[in-house]
Amino acid sequence: MKRLQDRVALVTGSSSGIGAAVAKSMAAEGAKVIVNYARSSKGAEAVVEEIKTAGGEAISIQADVSQEDQVKSMFLQTFEAYETIDILVNNAGLQKDAAFVNMTLDQWNTVIGVNLTGQFLCAREAAKEFMRRGVIPEKSCSAGSIICMSSVHEVIPWAGHCNYAASKGGVMLLMKSMAQELAPHKIRVNSIAPGAIKTPINRDAWDTPEAEAELLKLIPYNRVGIPEDIGKAAVWLASDEAEYVQGTTIFVDGGMTLYPGFATGG
Ligand code: BGC
Repeated sequence: MKRLQDRVALVTGSSSGIGAAVAKSMAAEGAKVIVNYARSSKGAEAVVEEIKTAGGEAISIQADVSQEDQVKSMFLQTFEAYETIDILVNNAGLQKDAAFVNMTLDQWNTVIGVNLTGQFLCAREAAKEFMRRGVIPEKSCSAGSIICMSSVHEVIPWAGHCNYAASKGGVMLLMKSMAQELAPHKIRVNSIAPGAIKTPINRDAWDTPEAEAELLKLIPYNRVGIPEDIGKAAVWLASDEAEYVQGTTIFVDGGMTLYPGFATGG
């Protein structure tokens, strides 16, 4: 039996990057996957096709997670297709970088809207369904699992990215508070905090040898992460192997949070 056999997994923002890898990894473990996208229907269709070619099951659904009506509609479409949901991966996220004094309210609101409010809106719909349905012992020991995609920037301050760091700091306590409140319902809530992973969001930080060398100074393990590193962690965290893991952040960052500057200094 595969680790996520027959479970329905909604992965927001999975038309590319970390989300796409999580969607494919979960499908390979037997999950029926909803590939959510905001704008890139082409990217989402490609992920769905790849999953199907590998013998898995997936559909794509469009929704901007910062919009309540679109989130509700996405969950209704999910229930029409697969009746229920077992796993939510709150992955959709973006950056709108600016020096603090130049940051516009629009840049602030867009990042908080997708990265933080979007996680709230999706988690609320998933939790309602988990509570309504409860545990199905043949499928899983818990009533559902929510994985919040956070970042090392839930703890590492990030100049030039105040909106992003604030959104991920917010995700940390949103996740922990949900975990505390929902645990008695056997609903598991946790985060994954990726470090620098090679995706389109941070291409400038790794796509030339000079940039990659600079980035590696921040990574004790001396390798930039790849989306599959996060896919593997997400499968484990969603599976019953992690049943007793509740309200925690798993850092998958090659040691980026270990104050690398202190390896020789201090
Ligand atoms: C950001 C990336 C960055 C990484 C490490 C992520 O959350 O989205 O742009 O490379 O953190 O700083």
